[in-house]
Amino acid sequence: MTGRPWDASYHEGPAPWDVGRPQPAVVRVASEGGFAGAVLDAGCGTGENALHVASVGFQVLGVDVAETALAIAREKAHDRRIEVEFALADAFQLDRMGRRFDTVLDCGLFHTFDAAERPRYVASVASVTEPGGTVYVLCFSDAGPDTGPHPVSREELRAAFDPGDGWKVAAIEPDRIETRFHDNGAPAWFATIERIQPTGGSAR
Ligand SMILES: C[S@@+](CC[C@H](N)C(=O)[O-])C[C@H]1O[C@@H](n2cnc3c(N)ncnc32)[C@H](O)[C@@H]1O
Repeated sequence: MTGRPWDASYHEGPAPWDVGRPQPAVVRVASEGGFAGAVLDAGCGTGENALHVASVGFQVLGVDVAETALAIAREKAHDRRIEVEFALADAFQLDRMGRRFDTVLDCGLFHTFDAAERPRYVASVASVTEPGGTVYVLCFSDAGPDTGPHPVSREELRAAFDPGDGWKVAAIEPDRIETRFHDNGAPAWFATIERIQPTGGSAR
C-alpha cells in the first residue's frame, strides 16, 4: 500500500488533477448509456467521476489509497445527498475486496503506473471485472502538444490489455483530460476495453 505520498498531494488545496467536476469524457459516456450494473471507480480521488455516475442511477464504489481524498469524497456525497460508497483499497489488490463489477472506470490512474507495474494492475482489474463487463481508461496521451505528465502511447495502452488474458480493446479514441494547469485540457486517450465472455474455459 503506497498511500502516504498520494495522500500528501491532497493536503494543501486541490491537487493538479482535482478539477472539482467530472471529466467531460465521463459525462459523455454516462449520457450515452455507457455505464452498466455495478461500477468501480479505481483511483477515484475526491470522487467527482464516481459521484456523477452515481447521480445518474448506478451503484458505484470508488476506491483510492489516499484517505484524505476519500474523506473529501464522502463529504461531497453527504452534502449532495448522493448514495455512493468510497473505500480504501489498493488498485494492485482489488480481488481482496471480494466484489465484482460490470463497469470499471480508470480516470487518471493507469498513466501513473510504469511499464513494470501495468501487468499487475491489469490483472488486478481483471480479477474484479465480470465477463462481458467494460473497462474505461482515460489517460494522458503522448499525442501532443502540451502533454500531461507520464503520457502513454496508443500502442502501450493497447498492449496492456492482452487478448490472451481475456481482453478485447474495442476502441482507443483521442480525448482530453481537464487539469488545473491546462486551459483546454491535456491530450488523452479514451479506451473502451471489454472483458471477454469465457467460451468453454474461464476468462483469466
Ligand atoms: C491522477 S489522480 C486521479 C484521481 C481521480 N480519478 C480524478 O480523476 O480526479 C490518481 C489517483 O489514484 C490514486 N492511486 C494511486 N495509486 C493507487 C493505488 N495503487 N490504488 C488505488 N488508488 C491509487 C491516487 O491516490 C489518486 O487519487
